[in-house]
Amino acid sequence: MGRERHRVCPWYEAYLFDNPLRRLVHSPARILGPYVDTGMTVLDIGCGMGFFSLAMARLVGPEGRVFALDIQPQMLRVLKRRAMRADLMDRIETRLIGDNDLGLDGGVDFVLAFWMVHEVPDQESFLRRTAAVLNHGAKLLIAEPFYHVKAREMEEVISVAARLGLTALERPKVRMSRAVVLERKR
Ligand SMILES: C[S@@+](CC[C@H](N)C(=O)[O-])C[C@H]1O[C@@H](n2cnc3c(N)ncnc32)[C@H](O)[C@@H]1O
Repeated sequence: MGRERHRVCPWYEAYLFDNPLRRLVHSPARILGPYVDTGMTVLDIGCGMGFFSLAMARLVGPEGRVFALDIQPQMLRVLKRRAMRADLMDRIETRLIGDNDLGLDGGVDFVLAFWMVHEVPDQESFLRRTAAVLNHGAKLLIAEPFYHVKAREMEEVISVAARLGLTALERPKVRMSRAVVLERKR
């Protein structure tokens, strides 16, 4: 499954959707609350400017850990600035990664991949690497923008994930998105 990558969202375009109005569309507490708990180690892959990373940092609390990963240093710079302002840097670790490397060995309780999977050139390899860092029973929430990703393409992602041991548990309603929660069974 190596279909053509959708263009990567340039960092300056992220302000178009990652702005104060976004909370009206994407409530982080509603979207993440059912899956993220205090003390967890969580991953925000393709974190962008950290809209969800900061919310996850609040949900995991001071005992938890958020790894915020992106391929664009400018995104991570803005994220760090925001996290410092919110006094959350004590539990967030930013990582500049490559397309083929998550830079982690495992021990992850929850992964968020929000509006990013369609930008990954080799989605099967991405899902395999993501599954490998998840603890057994841990969950991965994928949300894709419905204007870029057709229903058929989303189903393709879900069936590749199933072959890799990631079982679809539910299809949460996320505005402007196609979403699925997967669980690592084995
Ligand atoms: C549309 S933005 C979404 C950002 C963030 N998840 C949000 O919802 O605000 C997609 C992000 O994924 C990142 N990205 C693209 N391909 C990636 C990859 N292979 N690994 C990690 N991040 C990637 C981009 O740099 C960009 O920051």
